[in-house]
Amino acid sequence: MKKEKILVIGACGQIGVELTLALRKIYGGANVVASDLREENELLKGTGPYVSIDVMNKEMLHVQVIRQNITQIYLLAAILSATGEKNPPLAWHLNTQSLLNVLDIAKEEKLTKVYWPSSIAVFGPTSPKEFCPQQTIIEPTTVYGISKYAGEFWCNYYFHRYGVDVRSIRYPGLISYKSSPGGGTTDYAVEIYHEAKEKKKYISFLEAGTKLPMMYMPDAIRATIELMEASAKNISVRTSYNLAAMSFAPEEIASSIQKFIPSFEISYKSDYRQQIANSWPKSIDDSTAREDWGWKHEYDLDRMTKDMLENI
Ligand code: NAD
Ligand code: SER
Repeated sequence: MKKEKILVIGACGQIGVELTLALRKIYGGANVVASDLREENELLKGTGPYVSIDVMNKEMLHVQVIRQNITQIYLLAAILSATGEKNPPLAWHLNTQSLLNVLDIAKEEKLTKVYWPSSIAVFGPTSPKEFCPQQTIIEPTTVYGISKYAGEFWCNYYFHRYGVDVRSIRYPGLISYKSSPGGGTTDYAVEIYHEAKEKKKYISFLEAGTKLPMMYMPDAIRATIELMEASAKNISVRTSYNLAAMSFAPEEIASSIQKFIPSFEISYKSDYRQQIANSWPKSIDDSTAREDWGWKHEYDLDRMTKDMLENI
């Protein structure tokens, strides 16, 4: 067993539940402290310690880090793209202040590593639409994207100025069945599977033809752990790594579902999230992650669909 004591902040969210369970398998249940504002998720109960933490309360967070002898933090608390547009000041405040609180504590307590996710939302309408490169024009138009891009540069700053070993991935839209998504523009690609099983039909809030970069959660969890376990000398990007697996539009995920549920039907009624989706790239060039730390995805659309429909 590896000797680290990890704190996961935002452990009851879509990524947090699965990441906490995966980390507990590697480091041992007692060495991965789950924390959130919410009540402990059912799937986490009995698998390791849980503490209630508001990441915005820096003093309380600092006390917990010292009290629990924490050596690494995974910061997952955030407000996502669609929810962020409903209250931009709150999204900016939570997404940036939480990161600054964690980076400061990491610097003071000399933590061995910090993980903080960014997103494809950093890209905006002026970024290349296809195979959007690691380094390119980045002019986000959502408060979520702005907060993620600012966060990337804070990570870079704390690494170069203070030596904080903080690592990051620009996740695409993530699809999973264990824990519900938290208010993103890509959430349709989770909802569609639930409705396919329950009602055999789905009204998509994104139009046909809206192709976006996506990834199945097991790939995202593996990528996160592989990045965190990579040797520091292989990490050339200290802002955030592009990461990719597949790209699809609503009609393509519908066709994939129809291979397993032939009577499934999709219809379209777009809302404010269409504009957010239109501002993002359709596909991502993640060759730097593949070269630096050997990233390779495993799930394509049909393999993901089969697994989702079997497990929901
Ligand atoms: P989520 O909304 O499902 O989970 C976030 C969790 O943080 C929630 O359980 C929430 O209760 C908790 N939280 C909120 N405010 C808090 C606070 N003040 N203190 C402590 N906890 C608090 O989000 P997610 O989908 O699991 O995303 C995790 C991270 O990954 C976020 O930074 C998000 O931007 C990023 N990300 C997610 C996706 C995706 O598709 N899910 C894609 C790109 C990036
Ligand atoms: N899935 C996320 C969202 O839609 C991307 O960061 O907000």
